[in-house]
Amino acid sequence: MRIREEREEDRDAVREIVSKEFDTGAEAALIDDLRNAAEPIVSLVAEDDGVVIGHVMFSSVKLLEHPDAKLMGLAPLAVDYEHQGRGVGSALVREGLERCRGLGVLAVVALGHRDYYRRFGFEPASRLGLRCEYDVPDDAFLALELEEGALAGKSGTVRYHSAFGRL
Ligand SMILES: CC(C)(COP(=O)(O)OP(=O)(O)OC[C@H]1O[C@@H](n2cnc3c(N)ncnc32)[C@H](O)[C@@H]1OP(=O)(O)O)[C@@H](O)C(=O)NCCC(=O)NCCS
Repeated sequence: MRIREEREEDRDAVREIVSKEFDTGAEAALIDDLRNAAEPIVSLVAEDDGVVIGHVMFSSVKLLEHPDAKLMGLAPLAVDYEHQGRGVGSALVREGLERCRGLGVLAVVALGHRDYYRRFGFEPASRLGLRCEYDVPDDAFLALELEEGALAGKSGTVRYHSAFGRL
């Protein structure tokens, strides 16, 4: 299994996995929208024997009070059911975080399962002074500084790309 940047020819496979894992086409449509409209994005696939088995996307989010601060949002993340539980999701997230670090990103936010994301160091974003523009439970909005103290002096409300509003 290897992690690599998504290519155009991967798009159907990504759409299929994401639609199946989320039980709706909404996240797959979100990925299409973000590819077209968000900048920057990090879009990676996991490939096993030439077959795409997982995908993760990171896209730019805005910290309203500090518009120059570079932050990314992790979403969506999906691994084909038959390949779950073998570290594929973790490998996608870890490689994505490295790519974000390479882009000079200060922090990454995620909306999701705290028990899953804590293994990468994510914590409730409120502890870092970040709020989500959406009304979500405190322990579902998570954040990770890519360097310790990267968010010092930078708190506020995180706004996702408008494509997320259609979810
Ligand atoms: C979440 C997901 C991407 C994990 O992929 P994966 O390749 O199985 O992940 P890994 O093998 O790296 O990690 C497996 C671990 O994650 C845990 N895990 C999986 N889904 C979880 C969840 N929803 N909440 C908490 N832990 C979860 C497993 O129990 C396992 O734990 P262990 O390491 O202690 O045994 C995959 O289950 C998936 O595609 N789910 C459907 C879509 C989804 O929910 N995406 C995430 C949105 S927040």
